[in-house]
Amino acid sequence: MRIGLLNGGGDCPGLNAVTHGVVGAAASLGWEVLGFRDGYEGLLSPGDYKLLRVEKTEGILKLGGTILGTSNRGHFAGKVGEGGVRRIPAELMDDAFQTLRKLDVSALICVGGDGSLTTALQFFEDGFPVVGVPKTIDNDLEATAMTFGFDSAVQVVTDSLDRLHTTAESHSRVMVLEVMGRHAGWIALYGGIAGGASAILIPEVPFSYEKVAESILEREKFGFRSSLVVVAEGAAPVDGGIVVEDSGGAGEVRLGGIGDVVAKRLAELTGKETRCTRLGHVQRGGSPTCLDRVLGMRFGVKAVKLIEEKRFGRMVSYKQYHVGSVPIADAVKSLKRVDPEGEIVVAAKSVGVCFGD
Ligand code: F6P
Repeated sequence: MRIGLLNGGGDCPGLNAVTHGVVGAAASLGWEVLGFRDGYEGLLSPGDYKLLRVEKTEGILKLGGTILGTSNRGHFAGKVGEGGVRRIPAELMDDAFQTLRKLDVSALICVGGDGSLTTALQFFEDGFPVVGVPKTIDNDLEATAMTFGFDSAVQVVTDSLDRLHTTAESHSRVMVLEVMGRHAGWIALYGGIAGGASAILIPEVPFSYEKVAESILEREKFGFRSSLVVVAEGAAPVDGGIVVEDSGGAGEVRLGGIGDVVAKRLAELTGKETRCTRLGHVQRGGSPTCLDRVLGMRFGVKAVKLIEEKRFGRMVSYKQYHVGSVPIADAVKSLKRVDPEGEIVVAAKSVGVCFGD
């Protein structure tokens, strides 16, 4: 038995832990694993792949990035623009199927986020046995409590806020930190709370600049001369739209730039010196946290188990500390976004965090 493995979408810490889990579990069943390079692109004929042996994947669990490479644009992008679904053309699907058949691959594990799993679903619907593994720092996939990579990104945000805090205090400044997350505010929310931000601006809660400025000036009355503001890249003011850096071409739009806009407006409204830091891809780099290492490894093992049980078209999922599975279709039908009335937002508000609403 020979199975295929690929990583799709933006990279994220924990991808190699999944590979470690897949290769180890497959080896225990006597199966071979072919790792396709650069996501679905590796399936284009004649196929770009390598045989993954246990000896070669020993020790990769703790490495950031992916030893397979990945791609979030290109021929097989499942999402375009602001999250629109894209059907992969039939000739590309045929080409990929031919490669898989020629290499004797009986089933494929697709490790990806919303876009790559949408493509995985098309592979399944078109007749190829596929299982999915939920990956993304954005944590925006439905039907799983958590994706791997999210915890590592939040840790980077938290560490950055800890650092910004000391310099903000020294200069009595407002520090704005722009973080990733696309159209969901999970990274901003968790990172902002953990790093002690006094304002957190997320896509799910349209904000008013005046309210954020007021909250900063209010803090001054209590003797806090500095403030940290976290803004998710997909956040937008009540009277404005999201800030887009690039239309995305063959993929999704590239967000970015709202941090600078927020910093400028807050400086005008508060009269305080304000600076913006855009964290960017630092959030996706480096080694995975302990949680993401363990989660990634468990997800990889579960994906092999699903193939052994012939439960195709399913995605590994994490619920109540348990690794199970759900139909891929359930995971990609809509984005999992922060509930503005939910317990976490309410808890943050009750300790004084401003969401600008
Ligand atoms: O989906 C993960 C993510 O890091 C988003 O948070 C971000 O908007 C996007 O990918 C950045 O993509 P790229 O690496 O193409 O700039």
